[in-house]
Amino acid sequence: MSRITAAITAVGKYLPDYVLTNKELETLVETNDDWITTRTGIKERRILKEPNQGTSYMAIRAAQDLLSKSKINPEDIDMVIVASATPDLPVASTAVYTATEIGATNAFAYDLQAACSSFLYGMSTAASYIESGRYKKVLLIGADKMSSIIDYSDRATCIIFGDGAGAVLFEPNSDGLGLQDEYLRSDGSGREFLKIEAGGSILPPSESTLKNGQHFVHQEGKTVFKFAVSNMADVAEKMLVRNSLSNDDINWLVPHQANKRIIEATAKRVNLESSKVMMNIHKYGNTTSATLPLLLADYENQLKKGDNLIFAAFGGGFTWGAIYLKWAYNS
Ligand code: UT7
Repeated sequence: MSRITAAITAVGKYLPDYVLTNKELETLVETNDDWITTRTGIKERRILKEPNQGTSYMAIRAAQDLLSKSKINPEDIDMVIVASATPDLPVASTAVYTATEIGATNAFAYDLQAACSSFLYGMSTAASYIESGRYKKVLLIGADKMSSIIDYSDRATCIIFGDGAGAVLFEPNSDGLGLQDEYLRSDGSGREFLKIEAGGSILPPSESTLKNGQHFVHQEGKTVFKFAVSNMADVAEKMLVRNSLSNDDINWLVPHQANKRIIEATAKRVNLESSKVMMNIHKYGNTTSATLPLLLADYENQLKKGDNLIFAAFGGGFTWGAIYLKWAYNS
């Protein structure tokens, strides 16, 4: 009997309409288009402006895009995972609400949080449920409303992040396509360098945490940058070596979109020309859990059945890793 692998069989996306350009950021903080473009590769990002709407607003729409493209009946979905660092509410799962809103009435659902590696780790979780034979349709959504936790007077963070959502469906495959290998890592000593100090169980929200802006993301950019460059490149290289793949065997690098320079350093380490590197950071910035599925949605038309994809991500915590996946369909 052939081994069951977990293949991605459909993708969908949602991006808010509002475009926050570098020019507009120049009016908010002491920065300029040239600095942002050369240091990060970002030109603009999307911001969710709908009043009283959170991450689920985008997760639902990304899932609905996937469902309408693939003609999947939502009642056939077994499980919904929302990978996110910005849940709708601290308690009450965003995934559960999302599943109900899209009509996935036979699914169970939960959230998964690992900062910018949430979606990568979610791929591992979703694939494991398929490989075990326990479930047949697992919907994985990466969604973040980063604008809800960003201080728009802090130029070190507000230029980087954007809002968005992407969704993928995992299904069993008996032709050897889908997830082939993974190498996932974490290191808790990194939490000092990229975090939100208040609002959790250590420091519940108070007048003073609000006044001190401790409910916003704080990042020591330079330190995170150094860790991201070396670790993302290391794990991408490991995927190739461990699977006896040469750079010619790789069709696409699918890297987390945190900084164009980090992406280029990772591509350089595995010797991949830029035409094989997925990139949309210029349009959306860093959408945290949504970067990887948004890349798949944007490049879906160029992907061919059997293509070898290497995913790599790095995020707060620290969390990082790489996944090797064979693409399962022509669109
Ligand atoms: O996705 C999760 C993981 N996160 C990441 O991977 C992010 C990693 N970090 C980065 O991408 C980069 O560190 C940043 C884009 C955040 C910053 O770039 P950098 O090249 O590391 O800049 P820096 O922080 O070393 O700052 C260089 C200079 C400083 O001025 P001085 O001290 O040299 O005079 C900063 O004050 O640039 C200044 N600066 C800015 N100037 C204009 C910092 N931010 C800005 C800004 N506009 N927005």
